[in-house]
Amino acid sequence: MDVHHALPLLAGLSPVQFMRRHWQKKPLLVRGAIAGFKPLLSRAELFRLAASEAVESRLIVKNANREGDAWRMKSGPFALRGLPPISKPGWTLLVQGVDGHHADVHQLLQQFRFVPDARLDDVMISFATPDGGVGPHFDSYDVFLFQASGRRRWKISQQKDLTLQAGVPLKILQTFEPEQEFVLEAGDMLYLPPRYAHDGVAEACLDSLGKAQDCMTYSIGFKAPVQSELTAELLHKLAEFVEDKDQDQDADVSSGSPKKMYRDPGQAATPHPAELPAALITFASDAVRHALQDPLALACALGEVMTAPKAQVWFEQAGADWDGSASGLSLMLDAKTRMMYDADHVFINGESYRAKGRDARLMHLLADQRALPASVWAKASSGALALLGDWYAEGWLHLGVESSCDNQPSKH
Ligand code: SIN
Ligand code: CO
Repeated sequence: MDVHHALPLLAGLSPVQFMRRHWQKKPLLVRGAIAGFKPLLSRAELFRLAASEAVESRLIVKNANREGDAWRMKSGPFALRGLPPISKPGWTLLVQGVDGHHADVHQLLQQFRFVPDARLDDVMISFATPDGGVGPHFDSYDVFLFQASGRRRWKISQQKDLTLQAGVPLKILQTFEPEQEFVLEAGDMLYLPPRYAHDGVAEACLDSLGKAQDCMTYSIGFKAPVQSELTAELLHKLAEFVEDKDQDQDADVSSGSPKKMYRDPGQAATPHPAELPAALITFASDAVRHALQDPLALACALGEVMTAPKAQVWFEQAGADWDGSASGLSLMLDAKTRMMYDADHVFINGESYRAKGRDARLMHLLADQRALPASVWAKASSGALALLGDWYAEGWLHLGVESSCDNQPSKH
């Protein structure tokens, strides 16, 4: 992607300008972000996804009463008969991670890859009947709210008071003081930075033939690590690395170095048995320092953490054998595969590999483009080809043909 190129998707800004002026800073309303946009999946397809165990979904029902709005929330999966009737106003169905299950939605997400993959989360699709929404709230992460069909009225506010209502099954602001209001039609989009208060309510909408339009909003969502959680995950990984190293050493009989255990032959008799021994504190801090001793260990742990698939993600193993030599087909990553790299490693779905030279360049290309033409990947070394074969068998990547219209490979 040419990040200097002005895009209708960003209201005529280039990705460079958007990131500088708006990302994490201020909202951007985009009229006609994608001209002539046609919804990528029907209401029936969305409901089918919401019926699946492998997909995270939520149903939110609003009932207006004298004291205000009362909210009910239920988690999926939902059989069709488990959803309220379409004729009933005020409910919304939210389906998470649709990009992992629908090729066109995955393709849509690619347009937002001017933001690092490590920050991209997923595409959530909502369907709402008139007056439906999730109430005034704020999100912790950046989001592009793309109106795929129908109409939604957004009210937004930069308010500082983000206190939430107590005793409600979802995050609803105690007070919401809208500062701006926009009605988004199909093809329009609103970018909101984290912690920006917002409330989107579906409106009834008829097409030129008088047919009711479904209100569907695609949320292109991002994520950012929380320092304390990342620390826990990294330390856990670093401990695993140390354990693996210890095991390797144990297996090597000649090294004769067993797991390093705390020893205290010099411990004196203590009149204060509850006091932590100073030597144990030193042992603990040495252990943490030792885990960080390898300068590449932290980067390696970070890459593994950032590419680890979410809990509900699973891959379908390849049905056909890998013909790594002469297929003439392009390689393409599965929509659910997370692949990243740094100067020394390639990371894929929670695993890391050291990579240098030509193979590294090839893997970087695969990670950035999520596809490689046969002419490129056929030049990989035998080691890299074997690795690609393993990933193919796992269902992490597929063989396909380049489609002529958008230069994106299509799986077959
Ligand atoms: C929705 O699509 O209804 C909710 C999106 C959001 O407010 O973040
Ligand atoms: Co929101």
